[in-house]
Amino acid sequence: MKVKSNSDIDNEQIEQLEYAQKRIRQKKFLYSHFVFFIFGCAISSSLDYIFNVGSDITLLDYSWSFWIVFCWFFILIFHVFKVYVTDRFINSRWIKNQKNKLINIQQKEIESIKEKMQLESKIKAEVEFYNKKSQLVTIIVAASENNIIGNKNKLIWHLSNDLRRFKELTKGHHVIMGRKTFESMPRALPNRTNVIITRKKDYIAENAIVTNSLEGALSIASEDPQPFIIGGGEIYKIAMDISDRIELTRVHHHFEGDTSFPNIDKSKWAETKKITNKKDDNHNYDFTFITYNKIK
Ligand SMILES: NC(=O)c1ccc[n+]([C@@H]2O[C@H](COP(=O)([O-])OP(=O)(O)OC[C@H]3O[C@@H](n4cnc5c(N)ncnc54)[C@H](OP(=O)(O)O)[C@@H]3O)[C@@H](O)[C@H]2O)c1
Repeated sequence: MKVKSNSDIDNEQIEQLEYAQKRIRQKKFLYSHFVFFIFGCAISSSLDYIFNVGSDITLLDYSWSFWIVFCWFFILIFHVFKVYVTDRFINSRWIKNQKNKLINIQQKEIESIKEKMQLESKIKAEVEFYNKKSQLVTIIVAASENNIIGNKNKLIWHLSNDLRRFKELTKGHHVIMGRKTFESMPRALPNRTNVIITRKKDYIAENAIVTNSLEGALSIASEDPQPFIIGGGEIYKIAMDISDRIELTRVHHHFEGDTSFPNIDKSKWAETKKITNKKDDNHNYDFTFITYNKIK
């Protein structure tokens, strides 16, 4: 609710006072009119009927004084109507209120149209941004409700549909990972360019490119329109700031583990897609695929 300022209250009070004064003036004037009418009736009737002034002036068999009283009476009635109906209900104040009401309705509509347009242009700008962007650095991760992603350098759950999705999304792309994640796998992932990050200068990995920093990994993948950062915990942590998208599989269960995924700050990441999956014979837990895009 809008809180009225002091100047609003002052103006409103002044307006009310002026209106009350105007009404008093109108009523005083009506009262004077009524007194004049009584005097006018008395004087014209006396002149006509007592002193016989102009007694030969008639219209439709009625004397001149009758017509004066008759016409004046209607003028008085009109005056009463004006003061108690027209000026009271359909006055300039009423017109102003109606006008303000209309203006308020229109302003509200304009505001809501503006908001809609702003939202649409923001969405359009975001879509354009992602369409134009030559590279979309994407984090792909599966995390439990309490953000656990692994324990003792192993994955904790097996969800075949999640693995299938991982394969579909990352196929043909660079997959960037920490040395420990690489070592947790039996071999380099086929049909992808494996990039391993380690501080070790002489590290050798079969069927994989080794680099010493995340920046180095991204420059190796510079020609890839969508390189994927596939873990683990240490690499996710340093990749959150430079990534554009997160493909999260949220596993709806609490687990104990030693490696976790950072909290997703909802003021920086917008959820754009969600697909829920129920547990079944092949999946021990409910899980949801959620896509987040970084808010630019
Ligand atoms: N649920 C999922 O989606 C998912 C995905 C991937 C992994 N995981 C799990 O995550 C766990 C592994 O994660 P983690 O955090 O222990 O290890 P990690 O992130 O896979 O690898 C850590 C290693 O990366 C290197 N590294 C880290 N920061 C670096 C930097 N700034 N510059 C250069 N090298 C850097 C270091 O290698 P050096 O020690 O050789 O220097 C470090 O020991 C496992 O349990 C795995 O199963 C889960």
